[in-house]
Amino acid sequence: MEHRSLFKRASISLTRTATQSRGTQFHDMFEPCDTIGRGRTNIVVRYRYLKCPFEEVAAKVCYCPKLSDEGTNQPEVEANILKKLSHQNIVRCQGIYYENPHCYLVMDLLAGGNIIEYISAKHRYKEQDARRYIGEILSAVAYMHSKKILHRALDPENIMMSTTQEDAIAKIIDFGCAVVTSGRRRTVATKVNPGLYSAPEIFERKEYVRASDVWSCGLILYELLIGSVPVTVDKVEGEKEEDQESRLRQAMLNAGPVDLWSTEWQESGVTYQAKRFLRTILVRDPESRLTVTGALQSQHISRRGAYGTFLHETHLKLKRSDEASR
Ligand SMILES: Nc1ncnc2c1ncn2[C@@H]1O[C@H](COP(=O)(O)OP(=O)(O)OP(=O)(O)O)[C@@H](O)[C@H]1O
Ligand SMILES: [Mg+2]
Repeated sequence: MEHRSLFKRASISLTRTATQSRGTQFHDMFEPCDTIGRGRTNIVVRYRYLKCPFEEVAAKVCYCPKLSDEGTNQPEVEANILKKLSHQNIVRCQGIYYENPHCYLVMDLLAGGNIIEYISAKHRYKEQDARRYIGEILSAVAYMHSKKILHRALDPENIMMSTTQEDAIAKIIDFGCAVVTSGRRRTVATKVNPGLYSAPEIFERKEYVRASDVWSCGLILYELLIGSVPVTVDKVEGEKEEDQESRLRQAMLNAGPVDLWSTEWQESGVTYQAKRFLRTILVRDPESRLTVTGALQSQHISRRGAYGTFLHETHLKLKRSDEASR
């Protein structure tokens, strides 16, 4: 009974809804293959359709022993946000299922790995690859902002590639922290825990704004160009999460303007155009930061063409950091 009411509330339009409402359960339709991701409160599993074994999906499996009547359970909130979005650079949600005590958020399977894993597996890596991926990410962000949705957790782990092929496209996943801004407001008062890719205003405990998502895109591009982020804190064995967060906050607050002119950058082979573009995004004041529309219209992103060099050193660094994270 419980699962029927969830379908109604989540109201994901699926061609399979008719079967679901007759009581077909998740495991009558899908069989598990392997675990492909782990989050704080969930695991992501690759499943195949029993009726069509070549068709695979990714399902986020969350423990949900009780469903609230308001549909405020985390997976339901995430599914309802995804339901509003239809963009080629955003993961597609196929439906949400409830089989006590688990909720299954079913998505298209993105088989190319996250953007760092994907780049690490490439034979050669050029600046224009990074330019294409960030253009795709920005286009998805502009779209979600036009739907009044802020993602609030943009980082390389939440950017997946559609396939392992050369022409794979970037897709944003993980709308677990996303919010819909109400009315004309472009900000939200609810707090998110700041992470490495969060904007300075989040460390200053100010409201999350659209520009905060843009900063995260800027830091993703920074990493794609130079192989690391500007501010990091080393992990200390046994340290509490909140203590690490407070060290990160301090490091972020003390950090000066992002330096794109160091020897490391000079030797990287990154073009002046790319650095100039990045400089207009990584502006600490959100009011003065390039908007997502401005970023998409900038010459660097909108101009087609093959300028840009091989980023050998960056490629090696990304491979090393990918290996270290495994
Ligand atoms: N559609 C998908 N296709 C392939 N892999 C996926 C897909 N969705 C998620 N994953 C994998 O599962 C991991 C965890 O998923 P996700 O980021 O949505 O959850 P999370 O980080 O735990 O989020 P939350 O903030 O809700 O705890 C991802 O980093 C990715 O490796
Ligand atoms: Mg995630």
